[in-house]
Amino acid sequence: MKIGVTKNKKKIYLNFYNSNFELHPLWLRERVSDSEYLDPNNGQRLYDPSKLKKNLKIKKATIKNRFLDVEFTDGVASKYKINDIIDEINKSDYYKNIFLWNSGSAKKPVYKFNKSFFSRKDGFKFLNDFYKFGFAIIRSAPAKKDFVLKFASMMGIVRATNFGKLFNVKSVRKANDLAYTSHHLSAHTDNPYRKPIPGIQLLHCIKNDTKGGHSTLTDGFAVAEFLRKNNPNYFKILSSTKIRFTYQNNHTFLENWGETIELDNKSKLKTIRLSPRLDYVPMLKKKKLTEFYKARAYFIKLCNSKKFMIEFKLLSGDIMIMDNYRTLHGRTSYDLSVGERHLQGCYIDHDEVESKLKLLKKINSNG
Ligand code: OGA
Ligand code: ZN
Repeated sequence: MKIGVTKNKKKIYLNFYNSNFELHPLWLRERVSDSEYLDPNNGQRLYDPSKLKKNLKIKKATIKNRFLDVEFTDGVASKYKINDIIDEINKSDYYKNIFLWNSGSAKKPVYKFNKSFFSRKDGFKFLNDFYKFGFAIIRSAPAKKDFVLKFASMMGIVRATNFGKLFNVKSVRKANDLAYTSHHLSAHTDNPYRKPIPGIQLLHCIKNDTKGGHSTLTDGFAVAEFLRKNNPNYFKILSSTKIRFTYQNNHTFLENWGETIELDNKSKLKTIRLSPRLDYVPMLKKKKLTEFYKARAYFIKLCNSKKFMIEFKLLSGDIMIMDNYRTLHGRTSYDLSVGERHLQGCYIDHDEVESKLKLLKKINSNG
């Protein structure tokens, strides 16, 4: 991308994919960053940009040494770094570098715990890998109870739910969730019934010397892309039918709707929702439902298949961190008469973690 000014110095042009676009004067004017216009402590605008003159023009623009000097017709003048303008134009939600994996190509991003984990390079590599693969594993963290809250607070802000800030994944009598039994749990995402759905789940293994109780992970985005390519009809049904997800007991009535494969307005994958123990398909025409049930069954089969699912055992001290918008998790059943299995888990949302990743990226690239 190139930036230039016209001969009369009154227009600024961008050269982009071999065509020219004129940069709107208001777009630039809103980005004047001098302290008169932006509070230097928080970067927020000190004026209402909708009050700027609609017919504002550029009086004079010049480019010198990768800087752009602009005088606007309202008397304001400012200097911009050309690279800052290009960065601003290129900004999008797709800054994450994503690697789709299946059981053949999966490389487990494994990190060893240390106390200064989130200082600079290690923290950046870990968070970058987490978003690249949709999960990460930390080994050799203290196998102490409640430690997961400490670790989660280093990554972001713990999101409490009706299960509390922290939940104990342990087999109990009259369990208020199937997770708290010794049952097998097929590949699923957690809590699609919440608004918003918790972004990230952490599971910390305190003890796991039982028979079975292995963890499973599936890259939901990889399965969805496989479906888009090989079974476009199923992909279309699953990405256009909104399902009701609910969790109810005497104290709680949670409900949210969403597609199994949610896309954004550019048809990119946004969120996977799969929870076969608490999903309710709406009443549709019989023919449509028949197709839907076929599509869902195939998606579930792929998500639990040897081709897409990886299986391993978490050991005491391990923390598994999963992007709950992309990665599905599950576990094999375990034998209550042998040993003990105790995990502790909690949720955090994406915003604080993305913020940390962006800050660490900035710090690392500045020095
Ligand atoms: C959960 C869950 C998996 C496990 O608590 O959400 O899926 O390994 N647990 O017990
Ligand atoms: Zn779960």
